[in-house]
Amino acid sequence: MCGIVGYVGNQPAAPLLLTGLASLEYRGYDSAGIALLDAEDRIVVWKAAGKLNSLVESMKAALPQGTVGIGHTRWATHGIPNDVNAHPHLDCSQKVVIVHNGIVENYQELKDELLGQGHRFNSETDSEVIVHLIESSLKSGAELTDAVGSAAVRLRGASAVVAMAVQEPNVIAAFRMGNAGGITIGYADEGMLVASDLPAVLPHTNRVVFLAPGELVRIDHNGASYRSVDGTPVHQEPHAIAIDPGAATKGEYEHFMLKEIMEQPEAVTRTIGGRVLFDPADVMLEGIGLTTEELAQVDRVVLIGMGTSWQAAQAGRYMMESLTGLPAEADNASEFRYRDALLGPRTLLVSVAQSGETADTLGAMEEAARRGVKQVTICNAEGSQATRIADGTVFIRVGPEISVASTKALTGSIVGLYLLAAYIGRERGVLEGGRLASALDDLVKIPRLMGEALEQREWIEELAGLYYKYDHFLFLGRGMTTSTAMEGALKLKEVSYIHAEGYAAGEMKHGPIALIDKSMPDVAIAPRNYLHGKMMNNIEEVRARGGTIIAVVTHGDETLRGKVDHIIEIPETPPLLTPAVAVVPLQLLAYYIALRRGCDVDHPRNLAKTVTVE
Ligand code: M6R
Repeated sequence: MCGIVGYVGNQPAAPLLLTGLASLEYRGYDSAGIALLDAEDRIVVWKAAGKLNSLVESMKAALPQGTVGIGHTRWATHGIPNDVNAHPHLDCSQKVVIVHNGIVENYQELKDELLGQGHRFNSETDSEVIVHLIESSLKSGAELTDAVGSAAVRLRGASAVVAMAVQEPNVIAAFRMGNAGGITIGYADEGMLVASDLPAVLPHTNRVVFLAPGELVRIDHNGASYRSVDGTPVHQEPHAIAIDPGAATKGEYEHFMLKEIMEQPEAVTRTIGGRVLFDPADVMLEGIGLTTEELAQVDRVVLIGMGTSWQAAQAGRYMMESLTGLPAEADNASEFRYRDALLGPRTLLVSVAQSGETADTLGAMEEAARRGVKQVTICNAEGSQATRIADGTVFIRVGPEISVASTKALTGSIVGLYLLAAYIGRERGVLEGGRLASALDDLVKIPRLMGEALEQREWIEELAGLYYKYDHFLFLGRGMTTSTAMEGALKLKEVSYIHAEGYAAGEMKHGPIALIDKSMPDVAIAPRNYLHGKMMNNIEEVRARGGTIIAVVTHGDETLRGKVDHIIEIPETPPLLTPAVAVVPLQLLAYYIALRRGCDVDHPRNLAKTVTVE
């Protein structure tokens, strides 16, 4: 969601802030702005609705000078996306300025109080109360850091805020309350940075600190000091992040989505790398945070996630049941959080969250932590909040995923879940008699098999040309591939705005069958496995009603040829890992259909990469 960048240093701040905001565009936004301290120590603000280009255009006449500033891309919650509601927001005296990510749940109450004190509001945002709270404290003689801390403790809900004031011209203060996205502090040679995510920091430095909820940082030219929002000093040391900034560029590809689809074999190789051994068979997961004794106590696994990560969790359920022998269930984190889920002392919660900052998932994890439930998270983001809440983390190591539509993070998470299931199975003594060796043997084939699935790229591009004008799609899967069908539908609606449904094929005749006719193509995932015959029956049911069918089948399987309209082949894949391979053509289909429809593939409307509000 909103992106934040701040800089104090010896370089012109405006270009640095704009480049930083551009690197956070993937988070999703609808307006942008920056504030700088000029040579006379006045705060100057530029903001504009729409994409960053509109902001850059508006600043062309006179690019602002100054080496201290903050910037923001806004994803609207309170107030429409227009110039006035865009951040940064100034106080009444134009001497304090803030940017904000999150929601101030008690903003109306605070606004009434501030209006009563004579403050004047410009925007319809909840965020503006924060700058007026800081203004009040500064007027009563507080230093900036204390004033920002006092504002933080008045806010209900989750927020990440960055502020500066003319009173202390070379200082930026920032805090994080709850789970409204991260605050990363970067220690660069040319100055100090603060940002909501690594892509804005990594071009300058890989030495970073991540704020924990309830922490506040003060940065100036010389470094940073940390405390809790209520004033207790906190010790933080920068540590080096091992991420290649080049990973966040499109390279030879037109879009990040295509690049991230194409690099999946390499990405999941990194997920697996250094974690499996064959002689003798072994699986090693560093940082799992649970002892053999604790894993022996587990009697049930609950997997949670949102969106694409929820589809991964559903695939993970089958892996857990098969490789650990434990009963497993998968739930949408936002639903799980608010029902009275039965969590016992022997339940293991496995969350899937590529960003590690999704508010719904974090809320569910916090609830489980309150109840003393042991947790492992499958995550792509070092230092993220999910990794702090969980007892242990399986990092999927797929590199930064920039496209809003998740692709390589899904397949990395599926592979991460498989590694976790194999690890638990081994620890619990379930994978005896060569079962572990065979499970790992299956796993290491996956990068190659994904590469083979990608060879269908040109054919799928051609198919997209035949199907891009349809307004409705039905995706059908069975068993392991039901979550793949749901993911195929999710991808298509996200990037091409086509209505699509993903269903367990057995469910089709209980309702969705009423929709079937020539105008709604059905994508049937029918790999050769123990459910192949059942899937064939469902395909026949669609055929009998004149439905148009694209079947995803195992290479060499001729049983459907002539019976369906089009065939996409995938290689023969070990059943438990089929979701990692069968999803590849569906990702490509969504991409090429969106391209044909002229959609903004990497930045679909209304979507945010990291959903930091409930
Ligand atoms: O960062 P997370 O994995 O927790 O994100 C969860 C979802 O918001 C995310 O997967 C979303 O559904 C993607 N845009 C789907 O492509």
